[in-house]
This record gives sequence, structure tokens and C-alpha cells, in this order.
Amino acid sequence: MMRIVVLGSRGQLGRDLLPRLPGDVIPLTRAEIDLAQPQSLLEQLATLKPDLVINCAAYNLVDKAETEPDLAWRVNAIGVRDLARASQTIGARFVHFSTDYIFGLDSKRNIPLGEESLPGPVSVYGASKLAGEQLALAANPQTLVIRTCGLYGVWGSGGKGGNFVETMLRLAGQGKPLKVVDDQYCTPTSTVDLAEATVQLLATGATGRFHITNAGATTWFQLAREIFRQSQLSVDLTPISSVEFNAPARRPAYSVLDCGKLAGCGIVLPMWNDALGKYLVERRSRTG
Ligand SMILES: NC(=O)c1ccc[n+]([C@@H]2O[C@H](COP(=O)([O-])OP(=O)(O)OC[C@H]3O[C@@H](n4cnc5c(N)ncnc54)[C@H](OP(=O)(O)O)[C@@H]3O)[C@@H](O)[C@H]2O)c1
Repeated sequence: MMRIVVLGSRGQLGRDLLPRLPGDVIPLTRAEIDLAQPQSLLEQLATLKPDLVINCAAYNLVDKAETEPDLAWRVNAIGVRDLARASQTIGARFVHFSTDYIFGLDSKRNIPLGEESLPGPVSVYGASKLAGEQLALAANPQTLVIRTCGLYGVWGSGGKGGNFVETMLRLAGQGKPLKVVDDQYCTPTSTVDLAEATVQLLATGATGRFHITNAGATTWFQLAREIFRQSQLSVDLTPISSVEFNAPARRPAYSVLDCGKLAGCGIVLPMWNDALGKYLVERRSRTG
């Protein structure tokens, strides 16, 4: 039976991926392997003897990374490189998740970005994740890099304290007027859909870069409006610009990922608004 080690197993993607993976799955947390301190990685992996190493762990506090660049690079670039190297040494395949935030420098872009489109990050987080992809692919030829976007899952992103959908519903519950950015186009993606597509893609033996997101494109404002429409909530919601919002880290104005390569493998994800609908229904059935 295939042995699979999963880092970041308690993150929102990790938790949705674990139950869908075939084989003997070994979930790891930061307490067992800290990517910021990868000294004993090889020893640990050599003991576990996996056939496949999947990395769902990342430093993904996009704004905080601007003032903590050393840590972001240690985890997202150097730690990932060392993990890919250790996987290569023990003969394991390596699967790594990356982000649409490796793009953004081309501010005139308005058509979906392919796997071979020229990257150009505009934040410390994006730059560190781009370096991680490149270092991993160079270190282990049996590497699959999956770029995704705007994740939301029932477990929420630990570091970010939830996910965008939950944050919007919580703020709406407080009855305050909301201002949400309307000039960043991307594709919010359900971690369930991403996990299922990842398992399907893994089964094809794919290596190299792949984009996996739900289908279509939207802005954070339009996503918020759709959350409230589908939840039948009346909220005082105003679109604002990224400049008005003034987040510490810059984000791409357009980072819609072209998933045509994935579709070529027979894998197509639902539209973002349908995926959102499914999430909201499941959420209601959980909370009653
Ligand atoms: N969230 C998004 O919107 C988004 C968008 C595009 C791409 N991605 C990428 O998708 C992947 C999964 O993201 P996610 O949303 O599932 O993240 P998440 O829920 O925040 O989980 C990240 C996991 O990484 C672990 N981690 C953080 N620093 C670590 C370290 N130094 N060593 C070992 N583990 C560490 C965390 O462990 P602790 O709980 O112990 O901190 C956590 O379990 C990441 O590669 C991310 O960059 C995410």
C-alpha cells in the first residue's frame, strides 16, 4: 500500500485532503516537522519511508509577511526546498501547493494565467511561494506543484482565524456596514473541490505545474454579495478599491488561473458560485 506523509495536516486544505487520500496516510503537524527548522527532515522522512510527500503547510499570513520576510522565506522557500530534496533522496514523489499570488506584476492582465505565464509577485508572500515552487521543481523531478486561489473550507485557515466566507457571515451578524474590495479578480476555491481534484490528478502520475481552482472569476466584493444573497441576508455592503482598503501587502488586480491543463486530464471543477452554494448548505446542516 502507498505510504503518504502529509505536512500541514491540520490546515483547512490538509484536513479535507486526508480522508480522500488512498493508502496509508501519515498526518504531520508543525510540532513534528517545522519547516522553519528543517535540520532533521531527511532523518524523519527516512524513518517514515513514504512513497509520496504532500506539503499543505505554508506561512500564509500575506500581510504579516511584509514585516516578517525572513520567516516567510524560511518556511515557503528554504523549508520547501529541503523537503523536496529529502523526498528526492528517499525516492518519494513530492506534491506542493502554491498560489495565484505568484502573479500580479502585470497590472494590465485581464485573461486567465496559464502554468507557463510569466510570474511576477507583488508581495513578500508571493515571492517566497514562487521561490518555493522553483526550488522544489529543481530539487525533485518527481514534483507536482498545484497553484490554487482564495481557499475556504469548513476547518478554516488556522493562522488567518477562519476563512473569507465565515468572516463575512460573522461581520454581517454584527450588523455593521461592510466595505469589501472590488478591484481584485480571482477565483475563490472550495478546499473540498481542490482536495478531490488533487487526488484525481495524483492518480494520473502528473508532475510539473498545474492550476486547480473552481471555475469562473469574481471579486471579493462580488463574492461577499453572493454569500449574502445565497444566505438570504440583507447587508449594507459597499465596494471599495484596494487603495482605499490599504492592506499592508499588495495583491494582484487580476490572478484568475487558467485550468485548461487540468481539464486536459479530464478534471473540471464546479463554478465558484455553485461551490459556494454547496459550502453554505453543508455549513447550515452542521450548525442546524
Ligand atoms: N488560504 C488561501 O486562500 C490560499 C490561497 C492560495 C494558495 N494557498 C496555499 O494552499 C496551501 C494550504 O493553505 P491553507 O489555507 O490550507 O492553510 P492553513 O489552513 O493556514 O494551514 C497551513 C498549515 O501550515 C502549517 N504551518 C505553518 N507554518 C509551518 C511551519 N513552519 N512548519 C510546519 N507547518 C507549518 C500550519 O500549522 P499550525 O496550525 O501549527 O500553524 C497549518 O496547519 C498553502 O500552501 C497555501 O500557501 C492558500
